[in-house]
Amino acid sequence: MIDFRPFYQQIATTSLSPWLETLPLQLKQWEKQTHGDYAKWAKIVDFLPTVPAEINLTDKVESKLDEPLSAGEVQRLTHHLKQLMPWRKGPYHVHGIHIDCEWRSDFKWDRVLPHLSPLKNRTILDVGCGSGYHMWRMVGEGAKMVVGIDPTELFLCQFEVIRKLLNNDRRANLIPLGIEQMQPLQAFDTVFSMGVLYHRKSPLDHLSQLKAQLVKGGELVLETLVIDGDVNDVLVPADRYAKMKNVYFIPSVSALINWLEKVGFKNVRCVDEAVTTLEEQRKTEWLENESLIDFLDPNDHSKTIEGYPAPKRAVIIANS
Ligand SMILES: C[S@@+](CC[C@H](N)C(=O)[O-])C[C@H]1O[C@@H](n2cnc3c(N)ncnc32)[C@H](O)[C@@H]1O
Repeated sequence: MIDFRPFYQQIATTSLSPWLETLPLQLKQWEKQTHGDYAKWAKIVDFLPTVPAEINLTDKVESKLDEPLSAGEVQRLTHHLKQLMPWRKGPYHVHGIHIDCEWRSDFKWDRVLPHLSPLKNRTILDVGCGSGYHMWRMVGEGAKMVVGIDPTELFLCQFEVIRKLLNNDRRANLIPLGIEQMQPLQAFDTVFSMGVLYHRKSPLDHLSQLKAQLVKGGELVLETLVIDGDVNDVLVPADRYAKMKNVYFIPSVSALINWLEKVGFKNVRCVDEAVTTLEEQRKTEWLENESLIDFLDPNDHSKTIEGYPAPKRAVIIANS
């Protein structure tokens, strides 16, 4: 089973130490009600050995062994990794295996990175971090410590497997909770929330919860779905959006800036807008499920299958 004690030790002497008042107890509760497959996934994590490797986190997430694995070893490791499908966010290049995930998360990182205050020596929270691809890229930028929170247990296990293949690097850690379960720490220099806001039923509460984790003057990096329109335009899908059941609010950029200012963020600016392409989100051999091509109107890719505007995403930066 995944052991969070090294993380508790790591934060004990940092500005995150107040978290120790609530986190260990919350994770004890969490352990009692995990997903039915969690024990099976965690066994795969336990099973994999850490073999010293050369690590590259600057332009990709990669581990390279001095001595390449044999064809049989590649086959066995691939088999174990595939037991943790679907692999959504990546890609990872580990021990000669290319985990070609559904999303080219590096595309998003390339859109976001040029606009950030330098991450060197910063303490960072990545809310809704998925399997942790962007967390490793933050480590690659010199972050002091990166904490991701994401309630999906499969992603925790994917993260822990990748960590093992990256020399058991402890500069990034994933905590399997939702943002709303976190006590307000006001301790992170940068907080990322990418691809989460539209999944929240109460978006203004989400923005306030993000603010409560930042040091004064800290930087928020918010990436979310947007629609074209003015300050009064917000799409609330009647039923599904791009076949997703859990999409609640898709604002225009102006409406989103208004929300951020309303909860007290300053210096709010939109730094990027991009329509999601079929190169960025696509079906690969690392997932069995459908992907973007199946979520769009087959006769008009500017619309979702339900007739809404096709996914377009914005990156907003603000200060607390
Ligand atoms: C669309 S993915 C985005 C992943 C990654 N941040 C990215 O931009 O590629 C949304 C993630 O948010 C997570 N999530 C859902 N509800 C959450 C919550 N209440 N708090 C934190 N994360 C949440 C999901 O498990 C999922 O991994």
